[in-house]
Amino acid sequence: MTKTRVEDLDWNNLGFKYHNLPYRWTDTFEDGKWQGGHLTQDSNLVFNEAAEELHYGQEVFEGLKAYRRKDGGINLFRPDQNAKRMKNSAERLMMEAYPEEEFIKAIKEVVKANEDFIPPYGSGGTLYIRPFMLGTQEVVGVTPSDRYIFRAYATPVGAYVKGLNPMPYVISEHDRAAHKGTGQAKTAGNYAASLYPSFLAKKQGFADCLFLDPREHQYIDEFSGANFYGITKDGQFQTPKSESILPSITKKSLLKIAEDMGLNPVETKISVDELDKFEEVGAMGTAAVISPVGSITYKGKKHVFHSETEPGPITQKLYDTLFGIQVGDLPDKYGWVVKL
Ligand code: PLP
Ligand code: COI
Repeated sequence: MTKTRVEDLDWNNLGFKYHNLPYRWTDTFEDGKWQGGHLTQDSNLVFNEAAEELHYGQEVFEGLKAYRRKDGGINLFRPDQNAKRMKNSAERLMMEAYPEEEFIKAIKEVVKANEDFIPPYGSGGTLYIRPFMLGTQEVVGVTPSDRYIFRAYATPVGAYVKGLNPMPYVISEHDRAAHKGTGQAKTAGNYAASLYPSFLAKKQGFADCLFLDPREHQYIDEFSGANFYGITKDGQFQTPKSESILPSITKKSLLKIAEDMGLNPVETKISVDELDKFEEVGAMGTAAVISPVGSITYKGKKHVFHSETEPGPITQKLYDTLFGIQVGDLPDKYGWVVKL
């Protein structure tokens, strides 16, 4: 695959897609230890046809962004949290964790090596970094691999969902993760399971689907690639408490930001029958940032929040505050930002 050149990029219309940048970080786990990571220009991976990951899905990944500041510097947002979550995901998938220090070094090296590809301040674009790890041992029986590849590539992206335009969603009849399954791990299988429900939602004209809890199909879980929040009419910032959702770093941060804004942050079970208590609803995540949800359709009934065309004022303020901290325009009072 040919490498992307900086001059080929339109910073204001990047979309959310892969570009083959000059450098990525790679490391291997063999003979019981990580061999030592380094940058490479080779964007391909080589492993055997019987590699664990290909058949039994032993894979975990992360997603984080590098932001170009107004003064030309570069910010990362809470990369330690990605390292910790990747460790938790790896443990659930019976994989070797990548050490936190090495993880952060890998991210910094990849960002610096591809610095020319960080979208300019003000373009709305960011450099998305995708660390991942996969089992490469040749296996036929279902057993954990004893060899792994860790890799982190970067690609410049615009918004995952363009602009702060509210989008229509539908409640899925399918599950993305099982009760007590792998929902809290960021692993490929959860996303594979969401492809078909997502396809069905899009076929019906929705932006995507929203999953309910897999045990009772009564409580809101999350979107295929983002957590859920709702602002109640009495000023609570509510987000689901569930064992089958990904513990989102954006959510963790917004729970604090919401409190600072005078909202009451609450993690609780949210019944799908209570949708009308919300004045505003949104999706939150690294890729999604904050994406307003205009409506949710459940059993044929459409529930509209605030407006189907304009973001609500609280959603707008949450977005401005979060992105303002990430990009360095607002004070980083919790020490979330790592400057490069
Ligand atoms: N939920 C799912 C299923 C996701 O894929 C993501 C994205 O990483 C999130 C939630 C949001 O997590 P974070 O805010 O850490 O990016
Ligand atoms: C992220 O937000 O980093 C994700 O991994 C979500 C993915 C669906 C793009």
